Amino acid sequence: MLYTDERKETILLKTILHINPDKTLSHIAPEIYGQFSEHLGRCIYDGIYVGEDSDIPNVKGMRKDVVEALRALHLPVLRWPGGCFADEYHWRDGIGPKENRRRMVNTNWGGIVEDNRFGTHEFLELCDQLDCEPYIAINLGSGTVQEAAEWIEYMTADGDSTITNLRKENGRTKPWHLKYVGIGNENWGCGGSMSPDFYANEYKRYQCFCKNYGNNKLYKVACGPSGEDYNWTKELMSRIDHEHANGISLHYYTVPGDWEHKGSATDFSDEEYYITISKALHIEDIIEKHLAIMDEYDPNHDIDLLVDEWGTWYNVEPGTNPAFLYQQNTMRDAIVAAASLNIFNKHSDRIAMANIAQVVNVLQAMILTEDTKILKTPTYDVFQMYKEHQDATLVESYVEAVSGSASAARASGTDSADTANKIHGPVISYNDTSLPALSESVSVTEQNGQKLLTITLANTSLTDSLSVELELPMKYSFCGEASIAMLHAGARAYNTFDDPDRVRAFETEEDWNGNLQIVSLPACSVCRICCYVS
Ligand code: AHR
Repeated sequence: MLYTDERKETILLKTILHINPDKTLSHIAPEIYGQFSEHLGRCIYDGIYVGEDSDIPNVKGMRKDVVEALRALHLPVLRWPGGCFADEYHWRDGIGPKENRRRMVNTNWGGIVEDNRFGTHEFLELCDQLDCEPYIAINLGSGTVQEAAEWIEYMTADGDSTITNLRKENGRTKPWHLKYVGIGNENWGCGGSMSPDFYANEYKRYQCFCKNYGNNKLYKVACGPSGEDYNWTKELMSRIDHEHANGISLHYYTVPGDWEHKGSATDFSDEEYYITISKALHIEDIIEKHLAIMDEYDPNHDIDLLVDEWGTWYNVEPGTNPAFLYQQNTMRDAIVAAASLNIFNKHSDRIAMANIAQVVNVLQAMILTEDTKILKTPTYDVFQMYKEHQDATLVESYVEAVSGSASAARASGTDSADTANKIHGPVISYNDTSLPALSESVSVTEQNGQKLLTITLANTSLTDSLSVELELPMKYSFCGEASIAMLHAGARAYNTFDDPDRVRAFETEEDWNGNLQIVSLPACSVCRICCYVS
């Protein structure tokens, strides 16, 4: 049963999504749909890089099937080499003839020997194949300023220096284009257990020597907080300004239980489902609080927020290496992805990038691999459905839940943002958890002189379908064919290597007209509508 308030006093009669195409709010950076790859478990090796001699079809060692699947998502940016691994990574170990590369112990992720056969050249080749921006995480925790400076020079400088000649000897004549560099990762934890003031000073020193060569202009990201660590943001922001940093990062993982008992990826109760969704939605509150602190020190908004690690984190799949963080991915994860991306869209005035963790075989992955086989997870489909938001403009939209009580009489159908703040959407109450039943965001692009809306919706209820009235201002009308993509299955449904399309989005087209349309969202579903309005 859906309600319009948490006390279960007023029962939902109808749900209206008000959309105002004239009220354009912010540009949705494509990088919000970014990904993260780390030398962790089977993310890089097996998942992406199999080597040129592998029986698995590859181009320069990169799995063709994985690259092809990721290209279909229009991947904007890929972060590498970590994660915690980044602050142990020494880039010189990963260049030159593979047989001479240094073998190191990957102390963060199971103590396995990392032979560095995937290094800078291979990563940048992967980004070329994916046609995405690289985002390099530089080792501040156990590296040196010289090492950082020379890595930037190695990748981006032209000319005749010892470092650039080393790159040429290793087969790359022209420098690469590199925009995004993160300086340190989780330096409050695995990246050196630093205090914020110590890190801020270190950060300033490191960034000073990360130079712009030729036309290459770096966008520098300082290590920001974990979750609700508002003190880190305050201390960091009080010590840096836009001369030092273009953005700060935020890491937030959705863990249904606690870190000792996170919960199973596939075997969960209804209560655990609602706790998971509610914890995922909590990122909005966290983002808003960090932004409010950032505003105090940076009122002109020169420094962006990058959610450069996010996603679900469960117990590993039974029988797999606990340090490899390999987990399955159900419709619950699809709802988490859909709702999180709607939140990032809604805050795209300040969020410049987000990178779900991680792209293949680790945590909330797009793709899982097993030898020669791959499967695309339900989360993959969400990224596929939402890709139309990339580079579009967010428009005002808000949900109104209409009940039989007095609250139903409140002003409906107005276009005012004040109304949006006052009117609440439908609410789910489950034991001690209450959460919104509908997550949404709407963007617009101009196509052939017409406005094309992309509307993305998620019904978070496990049991109730939701009928949503999409309402435009009177002067607008839906026109022509609307393309509707729907992803739904039971919350616990997932794809396996034997049944890889068990959960898959399907598309339909409908002729739409008038200023009001009704869409029916099955329980636990994600929907994307692309429609013209004039
Ligand atoms: O994504 C797994 C790990 O989570 C990353 O290495 C680290 O940055 C975070 O704690």
